[in-house]
Amino acid sequence: MTMTRRSLLTSLATVPVLSLGPPPALAQGKRLALTPECSGVAHRTIANPEGPYFRPSSPLKRDLAADVGRGDRIFLGGFVRDEACRPVPGALIELWHADDDGRYDNVGFKLRGHQFSNEHGMWWFATIVPAAYWTRTRHYHFKVQRPNDRVLTTQLYFPGEQQNQRDREFDARLLMRITKFEDQPLGRFDFVI
Ligand SMILES: [Fe+2]
Repeated sequence: MTMTRRSLLTSLATVPVLSLGPPPALAQGKRLALTPECSGVAHRTIANPEGPYFRPSSPLKRDLAADVGRGDRIFLGGFVRDEACRPVPGALIELWHADDDGRYDNVGFKLRGHQFSNEHGMWWFATIVPAAYWTRTRHYHFKVQRPNDRVLTTQLYFPGEQQNQRDREFDARLLMRITKFEDQPLGRFDFVI
C-alpha cells in the first residue's frame, strides 16, 4: 500500500462532513478544516443490530483486503467525535463484514479487524466491497468504543443500493458518503459517540 497516513488524513479532511449535518462551510461549497468546527450539537451515531456473525478478539489490522485477495477494493474512514464535535483519539473501531460472495469467515479472522482512532480522532481501513446476502443489502458491521466507555454497535451502508429499501435493518442515517482516494472509492463516515 503506497498510501501514507498523512495523505489519507488530508483527503478525509477535505471531504464534506455530512454525518454531522451540513455546517455553514459546506453550504457555501467550502472544504472543511482538518478538525471541523461544528457549531451546535452533533447527533450520536445510532445503533444498528450486531447480526449473528460477530466474533470477539479480532486482530489489530488495517488492510483487510489482503485477507481475501479478490473483490473490489475500497477505503473506509472518517473521524470519531463526541457530541461537542471534539475528536476522540484512542477509540476502538472494530470492523467485520462479508466477502464478495456474501460469506463471513466464521472460523478465522478474514475481513475482521480493529484499529484505534489517531490523535485527530481519525480512523481508516483498506478492505473490499461486500456482497449483499439473503435479506441483507450491502453493509459493514462496526463496534466503536471510547476508552472505558460503552460500546456502540452499528452498521454502515452504501448509497444508491436497490436493496436498501427492502432491508429492515437499513437506516439512511448510517449511509457512507462515497468519494475517491487514489483512484479507489473511499467510504466516509464520522462516528459520534
Ligand atoms: Fe452482516
